[in-house]
Amino acid sequence: SRQWRGVLHEYADRLNISEATPIVTLGEGGTPLIPAPALSARTGAQVYVKFEGMNPTGSFKDRGMTMAISKAVEHGAKAVICASTGNTSASAAAYATHAGITAAVLVPEGKIALGKLSQAIAHNAELLQVRGNFDDCLDIARDLAENYPVHLVNSVNPDRIEGQKTAAFEVVEVLGDAPDFHIVPVGNAGNYTAYSRGYSEELVRGETTKLPRMFGFQASGSAPIVRGEIVRNPETIASAIRIGNPASWELALAAREASDGYFGAIDDDKILEAYRILSAEVGIFVEPASAISVAGLLERADAGVIGKGAVVVLTVTGHGLKDPQWALKTADGSDVTPTSVAVDTDEIAGVLGLSKAS
Ligand code: F0G
Repeated sequence: SRQWRGVLHEYADRLNISEATPIVTLGEGGTPLIPAPALSARTGAQVYVKFEGMNPTGSFKDRGMTMAISKAVEHGAKAVICASTGNTSASAAAYATHAGITAAVLVPEGKIALGKLSQAIAHNAELLQVRGNFDDCLDIARDLAENYPVHLVNSVNPDRIEGQKTAAFEVVEVLGDAPDFHIVPVGNAGNYTAYSRGYSEELVRGETTKLPRMFGFQASGSAPIVRGEIVRNPETIASAIRIGNPASWELALAAREASDGYFGAIDDDKILEAYRILSAEVGIFVEPASAISVAGLLERADAGVIGKGAVVVLTVTGHGLKDPQWALKTADGSDVTPTSVAVDTDEIAGVLGLSKAS
């Protein structure tokens, strides 16, 4: 038996690294691809969930961050910077501190989940809350990286996309081919681009017989790619993907073209409905942005685009524990209050509706 060594070691021959690259890893990747019978039953498709919340900092960002921080250290960087809706900052903070360098992170004030804010602070980041949105933060991070000695680790850094493409390799290893459809949440569209690249490389290597159709979903209030224009004041409860001017917009459009892909928009109430289905019926706890993959599946199956028997992989990008408050609301928006009981077996049996075995 051996321990999974992280994506740079596991896929060294398929990434742009060399003997000179100091590998900074927390053991990311190797995440489970989980069959989801409840989603298969609802759609007639064969549905699998790639659970990226199982990465060391609880999101898919770790795959790209091991690469970006390793390359930054190789090039002598002492400090990195990123803009973030929370997950990138948590990941950058963890990998930077592991490597002994500084992470500065810019987040939109009051707009990131508490779990993610706590992670960046715990990992000793220089965290600044900017009185603006994510797009403002990214503009400033790019500006700083251009004019000051800090290395940008947002997904506009190609090393990030390189690392993230490894998730597609793992899917192919498990399924033995590419799926028919692959669905991801879309914010900056970096991950959509990364999976597309990973699957293209697998096809060229002869490991697969096809490209999956890549389907990406944005929240309706933050859907610049679907609308074909920048959204100045993006809004959605899915804070991770509250982005109005995606960094990888052009790359993602090219990738959609290559795979006969699709971008769609999903309303917040449908995102939360999918969030509940995934946690209550499949047993996988994610943050709201991740649940949009499930909502997108249900919508495309309803529309007849994803047919019976199709093999579908949904990437769920971030762990539910990062932003758990949504689990404590019902569909009509009221608070869930767990029932309080006395230290009394009979009372508790009664509340649980149990009757004594005879
Ligand atoms: N899902 C989660 C949980 C995310 O945190 C993000 C992006 C996405 C999906 C979208 O991925 O940007 O590659 O299209 N989060 C970034 C961040 C913006 O700062 O953590 P994308």
